[in-house]
Amino acid sequence: MGPPRKLHIKSYGCQMNVYDAQRMVDTLAPEGFVETADVDDADLVILNTCHIREKASEKVYSELGRLRVVKDEAARNGRQMNIAVAGCVAQAEGDEIIRRAPVVDVVVGPQSYHHLPQLLARAKSHGRALETEFPVEDKFGFLPPPKPDAIRARGISAFVTVQEGCDKFCTFCVVPYTRGTEVSRPVAKIVDDVLRLADNGVREITLIGQNVNAYHGEGPDGRTWPLGALLRRLAEIPGIARLRYSTSHPRDVDDTLIAAHRDLPGLMPFVHLPVQSGSDRILAAMNRKHTADDYRAVIDRFRAVRQDIAFSSDFIVGFPTETEEDFSATLALVRQIGYAGAYSFKYSPRPGTPAADMRETVSATEMDERLVRLQELIDSQQSAFNAAAIGNTVDVLFERAARNPGQIVGRTAYLQPAHVMASPDIIGQVLPVTIASLERYSLLGELAAPASSRAADFSQTTDSSQTTMGA
Ligand code: SAH
Ligand code: SF4
Ligand code: F3S
Repeated sequence: MGPPRKLHIKSYGCQMNVYDAQRMVDTLAPEGFVETADVDDADLVILNTCHIREKASEKVYSELGRLRVVKDEAARNGRQMNIAVAGCVAQAEGDEIIRRAPVVDVVVGPQSYHHLPQLLARAKSHGRALETEFPVEDKFGFLPPPKPDAIRARGISAFVTVQEGCDKFCTFCVVPYTRGTEVSRPVAKIVDDVLRLADNGVREITLIGQNVNAYHGEGPDGRTWPLGALLRRLAEIPGIARLRYSTSHPRDVDDTLIAAHRDLPGLMPFVHLPVQSGSDRILAAMNRKHTADDYRAVIDRFRAVRQDIAFSSDFIVGFPTETEEDFSATLALVRQIGYAGAYSFKYSPRPGTPAADMRETVSATEMDERLVRLQELIDSQQSAFNAAAIGNTVDVLFERAARNPGQIVGRTAYLQPAHVMASPDIIGQVLPVTIASLERYSLLGELAAPASSRAADFSQTTDSSQTTMGA
């Protein structure tokens, strides 16, 4: 193998893309590629793109414009730089990228990352290469197991893909088209990944999937396991202090998942459960297949078994035909649930989705105005939620040194960043912290007990000492 080649990868969009980026790095490592943070220095640049909203997709072309300059500069210095476009824009508009952007050497869809080395070779011999097929073979077959060195570099919290794709076909959404039908990985493979991660110091696992609670993987007993059963199995793995999962769909919350929240102290009481709208008419037009009351009932089931549970959500404002009354129903739902945080987006028509053919009745001004009103409400709930932590002692999983010298930062059960002055030895431990103040979105506090006296039994620590904002 020659001298190492440098790989720069830039990801947009969801956690699945973050995870895939790591797998692409692992796939290219045997080819002699090492990661670089410096794009000018790279031999290969991969844009790992997102197609979810127009703004996200459009970024690709402006980024490619900038990369053309960088690539030309490299060529002037006698260095060949290759540009690859991966992710959901590659899947959705691969041909258009090839047509519009001559700077691109390789276009690779999310189902084909295992072919990256061959695609690069093909680009070298034939000029350019495109692969966006949905292979019929096991679409997880390509994923190389995480490499120990890579894991160490990546810290104590890791994502593990358990399911990919979506069969829900919400009328606004591209995901079923870019990620294909829903597929779950077998339990044994996930357990292997998590064992390896735990061996390398990972303490927190977030199971990810476009529709993670639709998980139905083959269990070691030959039966199909739901997400609740998988979580129960993973909770037994020594060293794993915390489990999370994302993103879940309200329709797929089954009793095993509720029971897992009841029984597993390591399963964090924080659930991202997107609802999109509070209006039944809009929910029907979105093909969400649940009403606002169905959603409230799901929330109640979680709260019945875990009173400290908190929720976040996604919302779309300005879906075609959304009236002021529909929007008020969304605000009412938000007030009623009380979120720890939420993302809200202006509706963006996506080519090929059913909603893109609907007549748009919501003006840009109305959309802007609704977005502001919704975000103000969500922000006030989030601030209240964060402020409620002040004075409490909460468990924090410490992740890394903070920017301020001497400070270590970790996260609470609700993913709030929490800073303390302490020795770096506490990184990787779950320790109780008494929260003194709130600075923007970060909590500041002090270790409630000396680290040394807690270090021996940190794996026993649970995260049940939290309070949550009143429902
Ligand atoms: N699988 C997840 C969401 C994936 S996309 C779920 O079902 O909830 C993440 C979020 O982007 C969605 O929850 C939705 O709020 C938003 N989104 C998706 N398509 C959109 C569009 N066309 N316009 C605006 N927001 C959109
Ligand atoms: Fe998109 Fe709906 Fe599937 Fe979520 S459930 S990924 S919003 S189609
Ligand atoms: Fe974006 Fe694709 Fe994820 S469209 S949100 S990168 S699944």
